[in-house]
Amino acid sequence: MANAERTFIAIKLDGVQRGLVGDNIKRLEQKGFRLVKSEELLKQHYIDLKDHPFYPGLVKYMNSGPVVAMVWEGLNVVQTGRLMLGETNPAEPKPGTIPGDSCIQVGRNVIHGSDSVQSAEKEISLWFKPEELVDHKSCAFDWIDE
Ligand code: RTP
Ligand code: MG
Repeated sequence: MANAERTFIAIKLDGVQRGLVGDNIKRLEQKGFRLVKSEELLKQHYIDLKDHPFYPGLVKYMNSGPVVAMVWEGLNVVQTGRLMLGETNPAEPKPGTIPGDSCIQVGRNVIHGSDSVQSAEKEISLWFKPEELVDHKSCAFDWIDE
């Protein structure tokens, strides 16, 4: 099938430094190309919720397509990230939060963020090998951090 051709695309370090990651991904999405499923880690990722009735459906949904997994860094990023992600249930929307502005149902709430520094450490080590997390200094660092 011609439309099953695949390519590897990497946003290079100058694209990262210049804050063009989102825009580059947006262009590929807009064109109509598809992300390809990459990971099968979701069962483990949500293991703390295994006794909830929604767990099998949650794992099935999360495993049914590709996930874009990222590690973000910065002062209070866990807590502030959770505030930006808003309530778990978008039926109680906080306008200006990501789910508040872009989804309706709790089981389709678009984005996940670790809920504590401890779970962030656990989740990062589940999704990434240490050598995949490259330390670098953003050229904007001195204009963002005092
Ligand atoms: P997440 O882990 O995805 O960032 O969400 P969260 O901390 O705000 O909420 P959590 O309790 O960890 O739930 C994880 C995901 O399970 C789905 N869920 N469905 N049907 C339901 O009642 C229900 N409750 C939770 C949601 O997709 C939630 O993000
Ligand atoms: Mg959670």
